[in-house]
Amino acid sequence: MNRYPVASSLLLAVAVAVNHDCPHQANGCGGTAEERAEEAKRRARLVSLDAPWNEVREAVVDACGLQVQQSTSHCFQDFNHVDCCTMDSTRQHETNEASRVAGMHAVNYLGSHIVDASISERGPGGSWCTCQISSPEDVCHRQFGARTAFKLVWCRGTGFAALLDDYANVLSHGKPTSARGEPPAMGGARAREQSWRVLDESKNASWASRWRAACDEVQYGAKAEAAEAEEHDEL
Ligand SMILES: *[C@@H]1O[C@H](CO)[C@@H](O)[C@H](O)[C@H]1NC(C)=O
Repeated sequence: MNRYPVASSLLLAVAVAVNHDCPHQANGCGGTAEERAEEAKRRARLVSLDAPWNEVREAVVDACGLQVQQSTSHCFQDFNHVDCCTMDSTRQHETNEASRVAGMHAVNYLGSHIVDASISERGPGGSWCTCQISSPEDVCHRQFGARTAFKLVWCRGTGFAALLDDYANVLSHGKPTSARGEPPAMGGARAREQSWRVLDESKNASWASRWRAACDEVQYGAKAEAAEAEEHDEL
């Protein structure tokens, strides 16, 4: 029985698909905790973003598989800690010493925080709200060799927020409200602009164009559809 050629071509197909998603990673996105990532995405689709920001943020933290507690109080609350990274248990103690993400601390040891804050029922491995700077050559993709389950994007720095998976598919979107200042709490409007700039000015043009297209859908998609419907009414 000659099973090997089939097996190796399958492996090759998987390797190529995986490598496409984690730029410049020898092992592709092999550090992804797949079950946790699926669960995080499933829950992200259920998060309503048309709600008060403090409730939205806690729902997003929970969807990511993280406990809402002191150690996660900065998560999704500034321009940078907006990636929901779900990583394999073999990778969660890795530091930035080998991956050398630009702009990040050379060590960036997160392992003990990840173990402490991750909700274990969401699947093997752990979760963390990693830094998006240098995206897609960021902490999740490089330090952990993992796909982001989702990222919180403030579209073009406006109040329109979206949760996008790692292919920039829109999982949920809306416009969070806030009684006390503009969201997010750490930086407000300035943080939203800075957060968008990281994506818009990404060194990887293909990722940047996917993020822009997703935001077109979020910001103008509904309007475009409504205009189209109106046009049909007139016919
Ligand atoms: C952009 O990312 C893709 C992976 O999605 C990678 O194949 C490509 O080499 C990257 N481009 C640059 C300029 O780094």
